[in-house]
Amino acid sequence: MMDYRRSWEKIKEKILTHINCDDYKLFYVSTIEETKVLKMLGEIADQKDVFLYTYDIASGLKCDKDKRIKNLSDDFKKDLSSVIEWVEGQKKGYLVFVNINQHIEQNYFLIRKIKNFVNSIIENNYYIKIFMVSQFVRIPDELQHEACFIDFPLPTRDEIKDIVDNFFKIIQNEPTKEFREQIIDSLLGLREIDIVNALKFALYSGALDKGDVHTIIDIKSQIIKKESLLEFIKITENIENVGGMKNLKDWVLQKKKVIFNLSDAYNYGLENPKGILLFGMPGCGKSLVAKVISNEWKLPLLRLDIGMILGPYVGQSEENIRRAIKIAESIAPVVLWIDELEKAFAGISDGNSGGSDVMKRVFGSFLTWMQEKTKPVFVVATANDISAIPPEFLRKGRFDEIFYVDLPNKDGINEILKIHLRKRNKESWHEFFQEFMPKLSGFSGADIEALVKEIIELSFVNNMTNKKDDISKFIEKTIGDFKPITATMNSKIENLRNKMKEINAKSVD
Ligand SMILES: Nc1ncnc2c1ncn2[C@@H]1O[C@H](COP(=O)(O)OP(=O)(O)O)[C@@H](O)[C@H]1O
Ligand SMILES: [Mg+2]
Repeated sequence: MMDYRRSWEKIKEKILTHINCDDYKLFYVSTIEETKVLKMLGEIADQKDVFLYTYDIASGLKCDKDKRIKNLSDDFKKDLSSVIEWVEGQKKGYLVFVNINQHIEQNYFLIRKIKNFVNSIIENNYYIKIFMVSQFVRIPDELQHEACFIDFPLPTRDEIKDIVDNFFKIIQNEPTKEFREQIIDSLLGLREIDIVNALKFALYSGALDKGDVHTIIDIKSQIIKKESLLEFIKITENIENVGGMKNLKDWVLQKKKVIFNLSDAYNYGLENPKGILLFGMPGCGKSLVAKVISNEWKLPLLRLDIGMILGPYVGQSEENIRRAIKIAESIAPVVLWIDELEKAFAGISDGNSGGSDVMKRVFGSFLTWMQEKTKPVFVVATANDISAIPPEFLRKGRFDEIFYVDLPNKDGINEILKIHLRKRNKESWHEFFQEFMPKLSGFSGADIEALVKEIIELSFVNNMTNKKDDISKFIEKTIGDFKPITATMNSKIENLRNKMKEINAKSVD
C-alpha cells in the first residue's frame, strides 16, 4: 500500500517551511486522514528533536516518547486547560489537538486560553507549535489571524492512477486500457479514502466486470453531494432547445472554440475564461442556458447550492466555499453553476450585518479566486434579481461577461413556441398560433411552455382533436385565462432594465 503521496510530501514541505521561518505557532490541518497526518507530524517532530504530544477528548494527553506524562493523573490529562499549561511549562514540543473543534466552538474560555497560549509562546520565545487536526475546519474568529491553514489537496490524476492500478493489482484483475482511463477520469474530485470505497462498491456490484463506468460516476455524484454543497446535474438540453437569445447563443458557440482548444488558446495569448453572469426575469431560460453551456462545451455541470453556504458554525461558510472550489478544480475542466446567486445575499443586505459581512468576505475570496484561478473551472452564475448583490461584485472585469435576460421578443416567442410544440410532436400546430402572436407579448419562455402543455391537454381530453378550429379555440381560451408572471411585475422589469444599463450588461438578443 502506498504511504505518502506526492502531495503529502508537498504539505510536509509547506509545514516545515513555516516551522523553519517560525512565522506561525498555530496550524489548522483539514483532513480525514488523521492517522497519516499524525504520522507525518511525528516525523517532523523527530527531525526537529522535540516531543509530539496529542490530545483528544477521549484519551486526553498522550505521548509515547515522553515518559513523564505517565506521572500525570487521568483527570489532569483529560482537562484541556491543564494540558495547555503543562505543555507550556515544557517550553518546547508539538501539541496536536485532534478533532476538538466542536469542543471549543462556543467555549470562549478555551478559545481565550489557546489565544493566550499562542501569545505566551511568542513572548517567551518557546519552541512550541500547536496543530489542530480535524475533518471540518472551523477556525474560531478570534483565532483566525494567528492560524496558518493547511489544506490537503485532492488526489491528482496521476495519484488516482496509482490508486486505481494498485487496486486492480490487489484484486488481480486488469481492466482494458480504455476502461482504466474512464475510471480514473470518473474518480476525479474524490478523496483517497472515497476513491477506494467507490472502487470497492463498483467491484461488489459487478460494475468492474461489466466495464460499466456509470456506476462509478453515480457513486461519485452521491459522495460529492453528501459532503459538499455541490451536485452533478445530468443534462439533455442542447442549444437548439433555446429560443431567442441570439447574442448569448453566439457567445456560447464562440467560447466553445476556445474551450475545445484551451492550450492553443493560452499559447495564442488568450486568458483563462472566468465566467459569466446571467440575470433577469424568472422563467426566461437562465437555468436552461447554464445547462446548455455545459452540454455544448461537453463539460460536466456542477451546481453549487448557494443558499446553504452560510452554515450555522463560525468559519463554516469559508470552509464550504473552499471545499467546493477544491472539488471543482480537481474535476476541471468543468462548468461550476451558481444558480440563483441572489439567495446568498437574501435577507442579509438590510439589518443582519453579521451575515452580510461573512457573505461579503466569502464572495470576496470567491471572486479573487475567479480572477486568479489557473484551472479551467468556468463559472456560470444566474440570478433573478441582482438588487441585493453588492455592486463591487458586478463591476466590469469580475465576470467575462454579464448578460441581461429579458422577456423574449417577437422572434424569440415564435422560436420558443416552435421548440415546445416540436418537443411534443405538435409542430404542425405552429401555424394555428399565428393570429394570436400579439397576445403573447409579455410571456416568458416558461409561460409559453405552460401554455403549450395546457393546450395539448385540452386537445387530448377532447378526443385528441387536431382540427384547426378546435385548436384555435383552445389557444384563445388558454391565453385568455393565462396570467403571465410579468402581469404583476412591471416595476420589477423596469428596475432590471435600468440595472442593465447601469452596469453595462449585454442584451441576449
Ligand atoms: N428561451 C427559452 N427557450 C426555450 N425554452 C425556454 C426558454 N426560456 C424558458 N424556457 C422554458 O422554461 C423553463 C424554465 O426556464 P428556466 O431556465 O428555469 O428559467 P429561469 O432560470 O430564467 O428562471 C425551461 O426549462 C424551458 O423549458
Ligand atoms: Mg432558474
